[in-house]
Amino acid sequence: MNVRFIAHAAFELTDGERTILIDPFVTGNPKATVAAEDLSADAILLTHGHGDHIGDTVSIAQRTGAEVVAIVEVANELAAAGVASVADPNLGGTVVRDWGSVKLVPAWHTSTTPSGTVNTPAGLVVRFGGKTIYHLGDTCLFSDLQLVGSGEQIDLALMCIGGHYTMDRHDAVTAAKLVGAKQVIPCHYNTFPPIETDAEAFKADVEAETSSRVVVLDPGESHTL
Ligand code: NI
Ligand code: MN
Repeated sequence: MNVRFIAHAAFELTDGERTILIDPFVTGNPKATVAAEDLSADAILLTHGHGDHIGDTVSIAQRTGAEVVAIVEVANELAAAGVASVADPNLGGTVVRDWGSVKLVPAWHTSTTPSGTVNTPAGLVVRFGGKTIYHLGDTCLFSDLQLVGSGEQIDLALMCIGGHYTMDRHDAVTAAKLVGAKQVIPCHYNTFPPIETDAEAFKADVEAETSSRVVVLDPGESHTL
């Protein structure tokens, strides 16, 4: 299972056969090293509807035919915008497909789409390629993160660390303790000035205080699980 950090909170998961995109914000993303037109997808999974997460979802879904999984209010907006295939779970719901599954879990944040649809943010627990990947979405630190990690062993957590709009790298160390993932890839930092932070310091702190290993990726870089 290969994980490519596209930039910001956007990731591409591939197992050699299928490709899953999470939060594909590419156009207008100052750190992106790829163009939206060059991304393929069998499914697109969204944590919430903020512009830096919904991103290029409509254009990629229309070009590729990928199904989009998003919380119901966002899913309804995307269907109305012309996405042919959507799944519309709510928190606690699991969508099972031939590629794997995704469950929506809580995240503490706010969200309105660029078109004005108010929606509740989520984290995503993805089973794909024989691994369990937890994208925390945009969130602050909250104690129920430990419920996600206690329910099953998380192989990889994709964790926001940039502060200002989400938890910062210090709170994210506590989050890493609560989640207990084997590996952590930090994201949602250095894209814009308010969220600049030191990912190597986050790595050092997590690896000193937890048994998780942190993999810091530059945009465009990949990591194999
Ligand atoms: Ni957000
Ligand atoms: Mn965000």
